[in-house]
Amino acid sequence: MPAETLPSLADVPREPGAKKPDAILVADGVVRRFGGLTAVNVNHVEIPRGRITALIGPNGAGKTTFFNLLTGFDKPDEGTWTFNGKTLGGVPAHKVARLGMVRTFQLTKALNRLTVMDNMLLGATGQKGENFFRALIPATWRAQEREITERAEELLVRFKLDAKRNDFAGSLSGGQRKLLEMARALMVRPDMVMLDEPMAGVNPALTQSLLGHVKALREDGMTVLFVEHDMDMVRDISDWVIVMGQGSVLAEGTPDEVMADPRVIDAYLGAHHDDEPSEEPPAPVAAAADAPETAAEKPAGEEKA
Ligand SMILES: Nc1ncnc2c1ncn2[C@@H]1O[C@H](COP(=O)(O)OP(=O)(O)O)[C@@H](O)[C@H]1O
Ligand SMILES: [Mg+2]
Repeated sequence: MPAETLPSLADVPREPGAKKPDAILVADGVVRRFGGLTAVNVNHVEIPRGRITALIGPNGAGKTTFFNLLTGFDKPDEGTWTFNGKTLGGVPAHKVARLGMVRTFQLTKALNRLTVMDNMLLGATGQKGENFFRALIPATWRAQEREITERAEELLVRFKLDAKRNDFAGSLSGGQRKLLEMARALMVRPDMVMLDEPMAGVNPALTQSLLGHVKALREDGMTVLFVEHDMDMVRDISDWVIVMGQGSVLAEGTPDEVMADPRVIDAYLGAHHDDEPSEEPPAPVAAAADAPETAAEKPAGEEKA
């Protein structure tokens, strides 16, 4: 549905957990603890369909952890959520991706050693990379191979990566890697795309192009939820902003409203916001969702079925 025909957000109350006229994702009581630390404690949140929503908040606010929970890469201690009306708690990540909600991932060391095209094909499985060999085994793969390859070609052209199709992902520039991360997420034809800091480490010449690609997702009817630290970019592309602090939703509204909100200003200043967030979480208490890239380096025979 084109953005102009979506229900307006004008009447949505400017408060944490506000009801949306057409929510694609609704989460309730989602809690994730790491030892004594409560990383996520979201009472209620709704993501509007067909819009670009920015999730902002200081370092350590729980944004990435919340993404990991929603997309099935991590399990909550408590809570439920629905996506397109379907309950998703406990559904593994590759199934979540096939149900239409997909998140981008930084290209790990294992993915760097695959070609751009292989990364795209792997994206079609909704797998992040650790199950690469297993992902290639199903008999259905052959039958779908042509369609999947065509889809990959089409996306590589759209993201101007087609000339790089046979290059190793590891040889791409920072900006091209971000484009590949986005392109491979689109392989499953998602309804909703989650982008965690899509502009981090990208040079200014490429940010406009990346922003254009994000806006194009909305034009194509997709819902976008993205984490970004650069407030100019948030203002430029988002229809709605959700502010997290200490695991909870602190405020919601349009970009201008939220950025003028004293609670938001406090949350940032109070946390000594760092412009260069580290990509790695601290030493994991539980298994970190991004960690097991070594699994893909094992020979296929060692993969458990
Ligand atoms: N695997 C983990 N083990 C232990 N603590 C973690 C883990 N992942 C995140 N945390 C902690 O949870 C909190 C939220 O982190 P995160 O979701 O990465 O925040 P954000 O993405 O908003 O910067 C932080 O205090 C972080 O240190
Ligand atoms: Mg993060």
